[in-house]
Amino acid sequence: MFGKKHVHIPKVDVPPAMDAAEAARIAFDHDKTLSKHHFVEGEHPVVRIEHLMKTFDGETQVLRDVNLNVWNGEIVVVLGPSGSGKSTMLRCINLLETPTAGHILIEDDEITGKSSKEVGLIRREMGMVFQSFNLFPHLSALENVMIGQTKVLKKSKDAARAEAIKQLEAVGLGDRIDYKPPQLSGGQQQRVAIARAVAMHPKVLLFDEPTSALDPELVRDVLGVMRDLALHGDMTMIVVTHEMGFARDVGDRVVFMEGGVVVEQGLPEEVFDHPKNERTAQFLGSIE
Ligand SMILES: Nc1ncnc2c1ncn2[C@@H]1O[C@H](COP(=O)(O)OP(=O)(O)OP(=O)(O)O)[C@@H](O)[C@H]1O
Ligand SMILES: [Mg+2]
Repeated sequence: MFGKKHVHIPKVDVPPAMDAAEAARIAFDHDKTLSKHHFVEGEHPVVRIEHLMKTFDGETQVLRDVNLNVWNGEIVVVLGPSGSGKSTMLRCINLLETPTAGHILIEDDEITGKSSKEVGLIRREMGMVFQSFNLFPHLSALENVMIGQTKVLKKSKDAARAEAIKQLEAVGLGDRIDYKPPQLSGGQQQRVAIARAVAMHPKVLLFDEPTSALDPELVRDVLGVMRDLALHGDMTMIVVTHEMGFARDVGDRVVFMEGGVVVEQGLPEEVFDHPKNERTAQFLGSIE
């Protein structure tokens, strides 16, 4: 016992990540009736989550066994009650949280258990749009969209500026590029945040309740931008939201989380109109 530090590591029993080809085959069989995604024989999921667990402080088990695949270009909408682990799952996917156990693979590369240097490289492949925008208040919209491109991707200022203008125009803010966040409405700020994320050309774009902090009249504009991105781009999106209309119209697949697991997933009309799980039905009944 002398001088020896005992670190408590929660005992978890997770099998190794599956072989890529085998995992893709199983995922294909499992998912093809659950999503509007146009499956191509032999393709692999862009995000593969196997037995993901996350425990805080060694005791609060927030993610218990999350298994989910997301396919290239797929729009996955995640629903679930407060505290079910939706944000924690997104934060594990871009490694803002370190998973306690399990596997996350992006294009068949395991991203769990990496060094902090590698984490930086992985994180730049993921875009994230937060409820609270997280813009730099002292920088203009243009500078907010440029800064990641120049600092992280090392693009030239000219190239970053051209891309920023293109993305700000795409979200309807071509006439606001020199405004700073305090001079913009919440909806406009969130559109800048979306332009910033898209300008990095991530492999996956994660949204964590992007419209929850907005006044109702501003929600529509932001949802419109997200809808355009989903329908006219080739972006892969995982969207946590309580906007049921968006989930139903734009989602290729709806995933319902409860108590740190995915309890149900499927085509939006199936999940909304014929939920199989009692908790899903209760939850949808309480908010629709
Ligand atoms: N850093 C942390 N330390 C301890 N507990 C945490 C931490 N982050 C989240 N939790 C706990 O994990 C649980 C799930 O949180 P999470 O934010 O993932 O839920 P959520 O589904 O996103 O909820 P909401 O709809 O309210 O945003 C909550 O009980 C929360 O208190
Ligand atoms: Mg949350």
